[in-house]
Amino acid sequence: MDLAPETLQKIESLFPKYPDKRSLTLPLCHLVQEDQGYLSDEAMKWIAAKLEIEPMKVLEVVSFYPMFRRKPIGKVHVKVCRTLSCALNGAYKTCEKLEEALACKRGGTSEDGNYTIEFVECIADCGKGPVVQVDDRLYENCGPEQLEELIARIKEAASADPVTARTAPEPGTPAYKG
Ligand code: FES
Repeated sequence: MDLAPETLQKIESLFPKYPDKRSLTLPLCHLVQEDQGYLSDEAMKWIAAKLEIEPMKVLEVVSFYPMFRRKPIGKVHVKVCRTLSCALNGAYKTCEKLEEALACKRGGTSEDGNYTIEFVECIADCGKGPVVQVDDRLYENCGPEQLEELIARIKEAASADPVTARTAPEPGTPAYKG
């Protein structure tokens, strides 16, 4: 499997810290997903071989935890917090608007492959809801009046080249306090 040298380096650096290789199942799943965007069958087999365990054991972990993905995601990954504070502040409306504007249903990827929208549990910024995370950027107070600008930024990120798409857009709207 084709992993980035930095990912391989991180993986190798973990082994001395865990005498029982099986304990590395979760960290390796995280690192490989971060590198590849999702955990393919090939990736799970690779992890299993690396840890000298049955591929089924890796699949059990990947199937159990909702943060692991078994399918590729869109170019821009949009996560909308749906936990109580954000829900009370309008997260469901925000999510519906994003779905409409990006032609993408929550839990799925748009037909053009540009967007994946997920409803997620608390992102730990509860006082500023609704909170939306776009790739690695956090956007706070994403109510109706801020959404237009946020949608424009998400679209801008999708049209950027694949390298910058993961880090764009710049923080600043709505009320980003990173
Ligand atoms: S409830 Fe949304 S960030 Fe915590």
